[in-house]
Amino acid sequence: MNIRLAKAEDVVGMQQANLVNLPENYHIRLWIYHIITWPQLSYVAEDPKGRIIGYVLAKIDEESEDKTADIHGHINSISVMRSYRRLGLAKKLMLLSQDAMASIYKAKYVSLHVRETNKAALGLYRDTLGFKVADTEKEYYADGENAYMMRFNFENES
Ligand code: ACO
Repeated sequence: MNIRLAKAEDVVGMQQANLVNLPENYHIRLWIYHIITWPQLSYVAEDPKGRIIGYVLAKIDEESEDKTADIHGHINSISVMRSYRRLGLAKKLMLLSQDAMASIYKAKYVSLHVRETNKAALGLYRDTLGFKVADTEKEYYADGENAYMMRFNFENES
């Protein structure tokens, strides 16, 4: 399996993987916006035929009104097609994106939201990558489930 930076022409394949793997889906414009605005942060995994079998979509968070707040990255979405799971692809996708956040954008930390019941993703973030739960956001998801807001500091990384 090959992992490489995502390009604008990958957005259809990324969106299809997202539709299959997650209930949180986004308009195609958002996928393109992310890849054009932060071209070093989103990656895809492809099979030997070039089909997209995993992706990470990420950004630098610019929503904070507090201009003194630390610049930070945010993982919007990550998924890997079922038959390619537990091969280390998500870990690689995350680390590539995190490395670019820290080295290119000088981000101080990376954040993300995850469902409280998402055991696989929690295993990836907490146990493998060292994220910590920073907060719980009640009824964050459309179906009423709570989200953990998780965070990983880059202070020792760059
Ligand atoms: N149960 C427990 N721990 C798991 C599981 C699982 N099913 N899957 C992965 N992990 C943990 C393990 O610690 C694993 O290390 P190990 O295999 O050495 O034990 C580690 O994560 C790394 O696993 P990867 O192989 O890199 O993960 P994978 O490529 O299988 O992808 C993912 C993990 C993305 C969570 C996948 O299961 C998936 O696509 N799930 C559906 C979509 C999803 O939930 N995405 C995350 C939503 S939150 C967000 O997008 C910000």
